[in-house]
Amino acid sequence: MTKRPLTSNYGQRSNPVVWTVAIVCTIIAIAVIISGIAVFSVYMIYRPKMPYLVVAAAHLNNLGYDNQFQTMDVDMSVTVLAENTNSKVDASFSDVALSVRFHRMDIARLQAWPFQVERNSSRMLDYPVRSTPIPLDSGAMNEVALASNRGVINFGIYGKARTRWRVGIFRSVKFWTHLSCRLQFFIDNGTATGRDCSSKTL
Ligand SMILES: *[C@@H]1O[C@H](CO)[C@@H](O)[C@H](O)[C@H]1NC(C)=O
Ligand SMILES: *[C@@H]1O[C@H](CO)[C@@H](O)[C@H](O)[C@H]1NC(C)=O
Repeated sequence: MTKRPLTSNYGQRSNPVVWTVAIVCTIIAIAVIISGIAVFSVYMIYRPKMPYLVVAAAHLNNLGYDNQFQTMDVDMSVTVLAENTNSKVDASFSDVALSVRFHRMDIARLQAWPFQVERNSSRMLDYPVRSTPIPLDSGAMNEVALASNRGVINFGIYGKARTRWRVGIFRSVKFWTHLSCRLQFFIDNGTATGRDCSSKTL
């Protein structure tokens, strides 16, 4: 049996690596706490409202369907506005990923590169949606037939984007904002019937 000393003197030696790591960790911890307090204070002072997306306009330029081959082709224009209603806080948007749907089928994807929206302003995203002939299942064919009898056709626009607000050097974390809207058009003239619909941050 070997006798072990009750105390080790290892830790008492000043090991420069251990000290450096300890100091760096302390500095990082303090920096995280200070920036957390700063962002929270900015939040309390400016009370930023969440930036959001809104479907500002839509028009159905052409709708073609083929009974024999059971396909449909769609030409529509969709304008989405990225809104920042804060008068003192800038905003940015990223990961914009929306899709236009007909009868549970995605017929077009609408995306955007990350962009900034200055305080109290908005940015317009114009999307031409021109599909190649879309194969329809029997449910979707029924839906088209019903729509042409009614004179109105329903599409949907769904998706999400990430937003964050910024005051000087202070940035919030990114929030997801979700869009889920119905796009309804008169088939005769392509006018959209619905009202504006905006995204929500949960
Ligand atoms: C924000 O915009 C509205 C109208 O778009 C304007 O009336 C208002 O003065 C603006 N506020 C600031 C702080 O720029
Ligand atoms: C489009 O057609 C609908 C119904 O036929 C009508 O109510 C609407 O006013 C028309 N819109 C335009 C811009 O002509």
